[in-house]
Amino acid sequence: MKFTPYNPSDIAEIKQLFIKTFSDSEGQSEGLIIGNLVFDLVTQADGDDLYGFVATENQHIIGSIFFSRMTFENKVEAFLLSPVAIVTSCQGKGVGQKLINFGLNALKERGVELVFTYGDPNFYTKVGFSHITEKVIKAPFKLTYPEGWLGQSLGGDEIEPITGNSHCVDAFNNPELW
Ligand SMILES: CC(C)(COP(=O)(O)OP(=O)(O)OC[C@H]1O[C@@H](n2cnc3c(N)ncnc32)[C@H](O)[C@@H]1OP(=O)(O)O)[C@@H](O)C(=O)NCCC(=O)NCCS
Repeated sequence: MKFTPYNPSDIAEIKQLFIKTFSDSEGQSEGLIIGNLVFDLVTQADGDDLYGFVATENQHIIGSIFFSRMTFENKVEAFLLSPVAIVTSCQGKGVGQKLINFGLNALKERGVELVFTYGDPNFYTKVGFSHITEKVIKAPFKLTYPEGWLGQSLGGDEIEPITGNSHCVDAFNNPELW
């Protein structure tokens, strides 16, 4: 298996991977929302504001992950991990954690300091995330599920509170995604 940066010319295959995987786990309407979100990320975000990676086996993409820029008043280099998917038939074999760690290392090498995500704490604590309160770091929108607001400092220090609002890229500027 290979982990590499994604190739924008593979967007159709990557979009299908997200639609199929999230349809399997959360139902078809969620699959379409996430597939369209990935398409918007890839087609709308500036190059500096988006990192994406894929896991490939026998020339097929079996997993993919995206990190998009978050901005704060204090100019810290920060990204949001979302979404990530491993094709249903390959789940539960460690590929997801390896792909996430590959992405986190690539971001660290590029000087990224903080990474946030919004998801299941039981899964993301396996790859270095811990719960953060909105008093420490505000999410860009009101959270439906505040327990799922998670972060990690790639330098390994504790996350210091940041005052003021946070902002995400256009594709995430939708309160229904939060
Ligand atoms: C979540 C996902 C990316 C994890 O990838 P994976 O390759 O299946 O996970 P790994 O094999 O690396 O890790 C498995 C561990 O994570 C846990 N896990 C896997 N999927 C999980 C989920 N959706 N929620 C909570 N825990 C999960 C398993 O219990 C397992 O823990 P264990 O080893 O202690 O039993 C993958 O299952 C997936 O694509 N799911 C559907 C889409 C999704 O939910 N994406 C994440 C939200 S953006």
